[in-house]
Amino acid sequence: MSKPGIILIGAGGHAHSCIDVIEHQGHYQIAGLVGMAHEMHDKHLGYPVIATDDDLPQLLKEYNYALISLGQILSPGSRIRLYLQAVKLGFQLPVIIAPTAYVSRHATLGSGTIVMHGAIVNAGVRVGENCIINNRSLLEHDSAVEDHCHISTGAILNGGVTIGKGSFVGSGTVIKECVKIGEGCVIGMGLSVRSNQADHSRYTGKSSS
Ligand SMILES: CC(C)(COP(=O)(O)OP(=O)(O)OC[C@H]1O[C@@H](n2cnc3c(N)ncnc32)[C@H](O)[C@@H]1OP(=O)(O)O)[C@@H](O)C(=O)NCCC(=O)NCCS
Repeated sequence: MSKPGIILIGAGGHAHSCIDVIEHQGHYQIAGLVGMAHEMHDKHLGYPVIATDDDLPQLLKEYNYALISLGQILSPGSRIRLYLQAVKLGFQLPVIIAPTAYVSRHATLGSGTIVMHGAIVNAGVRVGENCIINNRSLLEHDSAVEDHCHISTGAILNGGVTIGKGSFVGSGTVIKECVKIGEGCVIGMGLSVRSNQADHSRYTGKSSS
């Protein structure tokens, strides 16, 4: 039986990592990417940009599945807008888990979330919708990541950490157990975070704003 087609919404560098995970997982056939008008017909690892956001209603006639493959650092705005648009139109946004990742059977993942190579999502963890759990990140027991967050490569959330909606945690950053990061925060890479961060903080280890 042929695999269901999936379209990737977002045609930048993060899409390449998503393609690799989806190919390795093997559940879906990538039908193409959705990008900006000037990106039309570009190819990403052999897959063409076949449409822009405006064409999503048309694409739904052919494909049921979509994943938001746009990256996220300073603002979650574009990923949130595209996710809500896709859901409203009627696309199904599946959970994608790399076969190289470990997800505890005692963890939950929301729709549209991708767990990438080598990530560990341990027991009691709750991850919301439309999140990126990037390569080799570790979500320790009972931590919670709200919708539309990006936990970057190699980041570590220790037990009981909470990450508010739309926040970003940089590559290699370690968050102390039970620390609460608010909504819309940007936590830089390579840092140790030992204290709670208010909504919309930008944390670079020097000062919070
Ligand atoms: C936090 C971050 C987003 C800030 O970016 P920015 O708004 O462009 O800010 P700047 O780079 O201008 O840095 C502002 C100041 O904070 C410092 N700073 C920024 N990020 C820092 C970090 N992670 N660790 C230590 N200092 C940092 C800069 O050195 C600079 O200090 P200065 O004012 O004394 O020169 C960025 O530095 C970062 O960490 N990005 C994450 C990258 C990443 O993890 N990518 C993974 C993708 S999977």
